[in-house]
Amino acid sequence: MPIILRLLQYLQPYRVKILLGFGCLLLDVAAELAPGFIWLIIVDDVIAKKQIDLLPGAVAALVGIAAVETVVSGFRRRLLETVGQSFVFDLRQALYSKLSRLPLGYFNEQQSGDLISRVSSDVEAVQEVVVNGTDNLLANFLRLTGVAIIFCSLHLWLGLATLAPIFIVGFLLRVFNKRVKVVYKKSREHLGALTARLTDTIGGIRVIKGFSREPEELAAFETRNRAFLEVNLSGIRMRSVLFPIVGFVMSFTSVIMLGFGAWLIVNGRFTLGGLVAYRTYGRYFYGPIDNLTQINDMLQRAIAAGTRIFEILDAPETVKDREGAVDLPKVRGLVEFDDVSFGYTAAPSLEGPQVEGRAPAVLERVSFTIQPGQRVALVGESGAGKSTIFALMARFWDPTGGAVKLDGHDLRDVTQRSLRRHVVSVQQDTFLFAASVAENIRFSRPEATDEEIEAAARAANAHEFISRLPDGYATMVGERGVKLSGGQRQRISVARAFLAQSSILLLDEATSAVEPESEHLIYESLNRLLQGRTALIATHRLSTIRNADLILVIEGGRILERGTHRELMAERGLYARMVERQEGTLV
Ligand SMILES: Nc1ncnc2c1ncn2[C@@H]1O[C@H](COP(=O)(O)OP(=O)(O)OP(=O)(O)O)[C@@H](O)[C@H]1O
Ligand SMILES: [Mg+2]
Repeated sequence: MPIILRLLQYLQPYRVKILLGFGCLLLDVAAELAPGFIWLIIVDDVIAKKQIDLLPGAVAALVGIAAVETVVSGFRRRLLETVGQSFVFDLRQALYSKLSRLPLGYFNEQQSGDLISRVSSDVEAVQEVVVNGTDNLLANFLRLTGVAIIFCSLHLWLGLATLAPIFIVGFLLRVFNKRVKVVYKKSREHLGALTARLTDTIGGIRVIKGFSREPEELAAFETRNRAFLEVNLSGIRMRSVLFPIVGFVMSFTSVIMLGFGAWLIVNGRFTLGGLVAYRTYGRYFYGPIDNLTQINDMLQRAIAAGTRIFEILDAPETVKDREGAVDLPKVRGLVEFDDVSFGYTAAPSLEGPQVEGRAPAVLERVSFTIQPGQRVALVGESGAGKSTIFALMARFWDPTGGAVKLDGHDLRDVTQRSLRRHVVSVQQDTFLFAASVAENIRFSRPEATDEEIEAAARAANAHEFISRLPDGYATMVGERGVKLSGGQRQRISVARAFLAQSSILLLDEATSAVEPESEHLIYESLNRLLQGRTALIATHRLSTIRNADLILVIEGGRILERGTHRELMAERGLYARMVERQEGTLV
């Protein structure tokens, strides 16, 4: 139930419209129910007592009421459905903005397809009940209450006898809800898993084709699809039992009504007109019950979907601006790692609380200082922790021990927005948006001019190949930039980082796929561009970092050696061995 209440909170801003809608609804239902009374007059007075002078008024009233109902119901539908659509709009916005605030660690733990299904299909399931359900729910509830009152006012005992089966229906719904709840929850989960599988397949289609794994992937998809089918079939089975039983109970009611009513008339305790009115109102009685049963079903589905939506909305924002975080207008570029320890902690899983286990330490008590304007290289074996150091420096994660500082400010005390203006990184796996080359470069500084973009591209040694593209800078690069080679993609992301003009630049294997000649040119312009700026470079190609002011050799999350190339060579440690290994031929 709290889920429903929480969803209702999103309706708060629309309360005036909703009240107006409900006003219309009351009028509408009244207009719907009034004709029954007129029929009572027509049968009992006009026909039975031959009071023909009442007929024109009765007919005029019927027409008038129909007119009112038409206008009011159209207006109300429009009002409430607009509210419903605005509600899901708000919900989607809330989800998107929450997702953008969640830390990287969250996305580490989630499958993107599952998240997509929460934002799309789960919101849709909620939309179904809010847009159509609320209006229907209230209309039918009002109809039912109105009819109950009319029934009892026409004849108390006949009314009570007719209404009694509602309690049986209520009981049936309770039993049904209890069982169907589990089914609908599973159904949403299966759909999430199915979407996750699909996004994985689309993302990895080259690998799948490369190893001809299509049949296996198809089979794996079928397994999930079938599980989804099975759980939906069990929902159908439950509904197929409930709905007919409700139908039976209701037709039984009409038998009671007619039988008991006839008996009352014969005994002179009820009029024929009364029974006709009962019959007329009957459809406002069975219809709503049938409808409410279906809305109840929709509601159960919405609760299951709402649960998944709130799992996102409730996820903790571990990396966030603390209150009073400072906005750094300018930085010099002094970077300090002060006894930093870190492990990629498992973010609380969407599937519920996880067993708290200590994440293995990836960095252990790392300390170093980088002076403004220095060129620093991080080297070390794969998995040593280089990218992790960069990730901490851009505060994609917070350290579990110690502190990362920029110009003496703990990163946790600085607003993320200002921090990321000063610390820009080119990550190991380049990502290009489905947009033009120029837009992809401009991403780091939306106000940059075309000339600045070209200058950045030249510095990244990308201008030449971009000019040869069919539309130059306007060429669309597909999703993930598939139309470009690995080295070309890297150069575009280097250009993007150059354009940002940040005080600190982190290059993580930024030129690993670029040929040495071009790499050399990039580093040359880097030195020119970054006069007075701090740059950190992680690389496996040791020949590129000989002139670095400082080389940090990382192993197993610790700094093993530090110094200049010359110093480290003299030390004859790990670095010297790595250099010698690279200089020797491999084959
Ligand atoms: N997002 C992540 N979630 C969990 N563990 C991670 C994550 N990224 C890296 N790790 C782990 O942290 C360790 C250090 O990884 P890191 O990416 O920092 O290495 P690296 O030195 O950059 O290696 P490479 O030279 O291959 O890029 C590895 O053991 C890896 O398994
Ligand atoms: Mg790395």
